[in-house]
Amino acid sequence: MYKSIIRPLFFLFDPEKIHHFTFSFIKNSFKIPGVSALVRKLFTVENPKLERKLFGLTFKNPVGLAAGFDKNAALYNELADFGFGFIEIGTVTPNPQSGNPKKRLFRLKKDEGIINRMGFNNNGVEIAVKQLKKNKNKVIIGGNIGKNTATLPENYTNDYIKCFNELHDYVDYFVLNVSCPNVGSHAKLTDKDYLVELITTIQKEGLKFKKQKPILLKIAPDLNTNQLDEVIEIITKTKIEGVIATNTSISRDGLKASDEMLNAIGYGGLSGKPIKDKSTEVIRYLANKSNKAFTIIGVGGIHSAKDALEKLNAGADLIQIYTGFIYEGPSLVKMINRAILENN
Ligand code: FNR
Repeated sequence: MYKSIIRPLFFLFDPEKIHHFTFSFIKNSFKIPGVSALVRKLFTVENPKLERKLFGLTFKNPVGLAAGFDKNAALYNELADFGFGFIEIGTVTPNPQSGNPKKRLFRLKKDEGIINRMGFNNNGVEIAVKQLKKNKNKVIIGGNIGKNTATLPENYTNDYIKCFNELHDYVDYFVLNVSCPNVGSHAKLTDKDYLVELITTIQKEGLKFKKQKPILLKIAPDLNTNQLDEVIEIITKTKIEGVIATNTSISRDGLKASDEMLNAIGYGGLSGKPIKDKSTEVIRYLANKSNKAFTIIGVGGIHSAKDALEKLNAGADLIQIYTGFIYEGPSLVKMINRAILENN
């Protein structure tokens, strides 16, 4: 029903408008008594064999919703009912910001992909905390944090610290997003020495709290093997819990979309099917080269149960979806969890 009726209808409209419409629709529908339980019954696969214990947390199942969908922590409990084992909110920045000018979100239908240059549009960390305080989470929540676009390079660390401290009591793990292609000043966030400094500073901040929260680094799919070796070095040196591989790609290689269309769209991060293999290869390289020394959350182009198993077989401990959720609909989560059980 999703692919034959809902998706064709949704795809007639502007992608960002449909995102907001879907958000309000879910939010309002869930106010009707019984809807939450019904959705859970339809989409959730419950089985202790799906459980994953990682960095001190027990995930009900290994399928998560990737960052960018629930940027302001406005819908995580409703989304959890669609069967996710964890939801990553954000990217959250210290101050609210409106992101890049519209239009900034584009479907590549033939490629089953998306190009976005949203640019961390979000309501800021205070609002995210308010939301998290208001609604006790039913599911593991990751806090994906970043810097404001206007922040000068010498203040990047302060932005991460502010988000980290404010969200600390309300999320279960943290993700330092250093790989968004849409917020400018990217060079510093790929510099090994700076990343070690950023992580160790955040870790020191973490010591102020009674309970330390796991920290992961979110990386791009466009890193070469030297850069991936550096990622391994950074993780080994700082002993953070792991990596999220991967974010969106700046590449346009091998797309079915015409050059004319791609030129009209312009810059932005590519997600969905076209980045599947690239992201899987990053996961495989990190897992093999490090001897599986840290946790890997695999994300990028998962549109089927087969794609998810491929990521897990390449070395991912958990997986996340975003673009596949849009193209395949919510039953994708259930299909993946069932396939994981069958392949146990
Ligand atoms: C994203 N993604 C993303 N990632 C992140 O760390 N912070 C963010 O704010 C966003 N925002 C965002 C917006 C949109 C519209 C998309 C499509 C994606 C990246 C996302 O979490 C994921 O890493 C990639 O999209 C690859 O996975 P999929 O989409 O191929 O499953």
